[in-house]
Amino acid sequence: SQIMKGGYDHFMQKEIHEQPESVLQTMRGRVKFERSSSETDRYRERRIKLGGLTEWLDTIRTGRRIIFVGCGTSYHACLAARQTVEELVEVPVALELASDLLDRRAPIFRDDTCVFVSQSGETADTLQALEYAKSRGALCVGLTNTVGSSIARATHCGVHVNAGCEVGVASTKAYTSQVVAVTMVALALSEDSIAKRDARDAVIDSLGALPGALRRALALDPELARLAGRLAGETSLLLFGRGYNYATALEGALKVKEVALMHSEGLLAGEMKHGPLALVDESLPVIVLATRDAMHAKMLSVIAQLRARRARLIVVACEGDAEVEEACGVDCLQPIVNVVPLQLLAYHLTLLRGHNVDQPRNLAKSVTVS
Ligand code: G6P
Repeated sequence: SQIMKGGYDHFMQKEIHEQPESVLQTMRGRVKFERSSSETDRYRERRIKLGGLTEWLDTIRTGRRIIFVGCGTSYHACLAARQTVEELVEVPVALELASDLLDRRAPIFRDDTCVFVSQSGETADTLQALEYAKSRGALCVGLTNTVGSSIARATHCGVHVNAGCEVGVASTKAYTSQVVAVTMVALALSEDSIAKRDARDAVIDSLGALPGALRRALALDPELARLAGRLAGETSLLLFGRGYNYATALEGALKVKEVALMHSEGLLAGEMKHGPLALVDESLPVIVLATRDAMHAKMLSVIAQLRARRARLIVVACEGDAEVEEACGVDCLQPIVNVVPLQLLAYHLTLLRGHNVDQPRNLAKSVTVS
C-alpha cells in the first residue's frame, strides 16, 4: 500500500497534493483554452464540450429550475458553484441535501432539472432522492466520480468528474473537481449567450490558471503544519466565510470534524452578528476567509468586529504580490484554491491529535444504507 500511496504517508495527503493534476483531468478534452488573435475566432476558440450533456443543454436552460442534490462534501461542492450557475445561466438554482429533500418530499416538477452530485455514485440518500425526482418527471443529471456507478446509470444524462479514484474517507480532490465540473456545466449552459461571453471567457481563462494556483496553495503546507501545532490542543474552531467562500468555511469545518475529530463550525459571515458573535472571546480560535473577491470589503469589516472582541483570529488571505493576486483569478474559482489550506490544516491536526487519517472512526467512504 506504500506504493499505492505514491510515497505519501496517507491517501488523504496524497489526494490533497494531487489536486493540480486531478482538476486538469476533470477539464481534459472538455475545456478548450486557446486564445486566438482575431476577435471573431476568439468566441470559437474558448469552448466547453461536455459530451454527456450536449443534447440536453436546451432543455436544462429553458427549464423552470436547476436543483442540485448531494450529501456531505458533495453538497458543499454544489454550494460553492451555485452562484456561478446563477450568474452565467440566470435560471433559479436550488440546493438540497438528499436526506432533507426526501424528508420533505419537496415539490419537484417535470420542467425541473435535478443534478445529483456524488463522488461514489452509490450514496443511498442521493440515490433515493434520484428515484423520487424521476418519479416526479424531472430531468435527472448525474455528476459522479465513478463510471458505471448506480447514480451514473440511473440518471438520464451526466458528466463524469474524472478526479481519479479517491481512497481517503475525507473527500478532498473529488471536492475540487466537483466544483470544476459544476462550473463547466454552467459554462456549457451559457454557451448560447452573447451577453455572458466576457464573463464566460474570464472563467475559462482562470480555469487554465487553476493548477498553478493550487500548486501555490499546496506550497503553504509547512505553514499549515505549524498552525496545526498551535491548534491541536483546542476543543473547538470556528470558520467564517461569505459569498463563494461560505462553502469553503463549511467544507473546512467538515474536514476538521471528520478526520481531526475536533468540533468545528463553518458559518456564514453575514450571520455572525445574529448569534455566533456571542461565542467569540480571547480563547476560541476563529478562521476567517478573506481572499480578494467581491466580498473582501465586507470581510474586512467582519475582521474589525472580531478584533474589537479580541478574537483569536487566523485570516486566510491572498499574498500581497500582484502575481499571486492575479492567480486568484475570477471569484468563482477561489473556493477551489482556498479549501486547500484548510484540507492541509485538517490533515496535520489529525496527525498531531493521533487519529486515523484515512479511516476516521464511525465514518464510511460511501454510505450505501439510509
Ligand atoms: C460520506 C463520506 C463523505 C461524503 C458523503 C457523500 O458521508 O464520508 O466524505 O462527502 O458520504 O458521498 P458521495 O460519494 O455521495 O459524494
